[in-house]
Amino acid sequence: VGIVGVGNNTSALVQGVYRYSQPEGINIATERQEGILFPKLCNYEIKDITFSVAFDVDSRKIGRDLGTAIYSEPNKYPRIFEEDLKTGTIVQPAPALDGVPEFLEDIVEVDQVSKPSSEELDSYFDFCVEKIHLSKTDVLVNFLPSGSHKATQFFARAAAKGHAAFINCIPSPVVNSPEILELFEKENLPLLGDDLESQFGSSLIHRTLLQTLETRGLEIMRSYQVNLGGNADFKNLQFRSDAKQQSKKKAISTISSTPDRINIVPSGGFLPVLGDNKIGYLMIEGRGWLGMPVNIDLKLSVQDSSNAAGVVIDLIRIAKGAIDQGLSGYVSLSYYFKNPLDRKLDTDEAIEVIRSFNSDTSA
Ligand SMILES: NC(=O)c1ccc[n+]([C@@H]2O[C@H](COP(=O)([O-])OP(=O)(O)OC[C@H]3O[C@@H](n4cnc5c(N)ncnc54)[C@H](O)[C@@H]3O)[C@@H](O)[C@H]2O)c1
Repeated sequence: VGIVGVGNNTSALVQGVYRYSQPEGINIATERQEGILFPKLCNYEIKDITFSVAFDVDSRKIGRDLGTAIYSEPNKYPRIFEEDLKTGTIVQPAPALDGVPEFLEDIVEVDQVSKPSSEELDSYFDFCVEKIHLSKTDVLVNFLPSGSHKATQFFARAAAKGHAAFINCIPSPVVNSPEILELFEKENLPLLGDDLESQFGSSLIHRTLLQTLETRGLEIMRSYQVNLGGNADFKNLQFRSDAKQQSKKKAISTISSTPDRINIVPSGGFLPVLGDNKIGYLMIEGRGWLGMPVNIDLKLSVQDSSNAAGVVIDLIRIAKGAIDQGLSGYVSLSYYFKNPLDRKLDTDEAIEVIRSFNSDTSA
């Protein structure tokens, strides 16, 4: 597995894969505990995952082992292991492009090598393709900051040229980009996206509650969702929330008959004291029999990046399973994404789709 963006999500993923690959961790990983939905998926267990390549722009991460870089500032995901982890994979430089806008420059230290001139970009692209290809990376995971449209396009194209499947965890259009989709079809590679839906996050809970009210015949009068956090992604979302807001809105409005009565604020504030903890406030006002009110006020507190890793761990194995089965182009997995190409399935339907990838599974 290759990684683009060694931030908090990557820290949660790398530490989790390490933990569940240790003898004591494997017992947990094979028994559906700690948020592991599929102990075995597409014939792969968590311990079968290794990290082959990683890219970042921060001088505190470039040149270091991925297992050390994940603990560098400004990452805030908790440190589970005292010792630095040894993955044997050294973080490679990448061109910053639109990955670090001005308002992130005080927390991300962009290395000089990540500021190429426009003439140098082609050779930078070849460099990244070569790293992906020579490391025999099967699946490249995009964990760039939200709003990094150019950098996302750059790495999706690099994955296609370097013969890796691509998982787009962020709102920038990849499966929703006809050119990129065509590229992956042409190269016979799977493409998964767009924008991860957290394992147990605000979008899921908001959608489920709204849907339940509507299917029970109640009318939704007003509803909002406000999220607060203290990691770099929240700082970023304060300024670049457009794509995220649309994606979150789409994740919810597909099931609601009154989407204009729902407001969503992806980042209602950057509160450093929260670190990688995320707080979501949901409010729903409904109306039932004889117009009588039904009100819900809910506070959700979650570890933001565990919420991402718990989903990506399945997507990595499905992407590899798709390669093994010779599938290419868009892989229909609306269960795991906020902005897929196809209709959002209900949980039972979605689990059936996932099982269809899973010829031999213990789940
Ligand atoms: N539950 C979740 O955490 C969740 C859910 C859905 C989507 N996402 C998305 O996942 C993405 C990653 O989240 P995160 O919390 O790890 O973010 P983060 O800000 O902690 O990490 C981003 C990393 O990308 C690096 N970077 C910036 N520009 C780059 C470039 N051009 N090339 C390579 N690296 C570059 C940064 O230095 C940083 O290390 C975000 O876009 C977020 O919106 C997260």
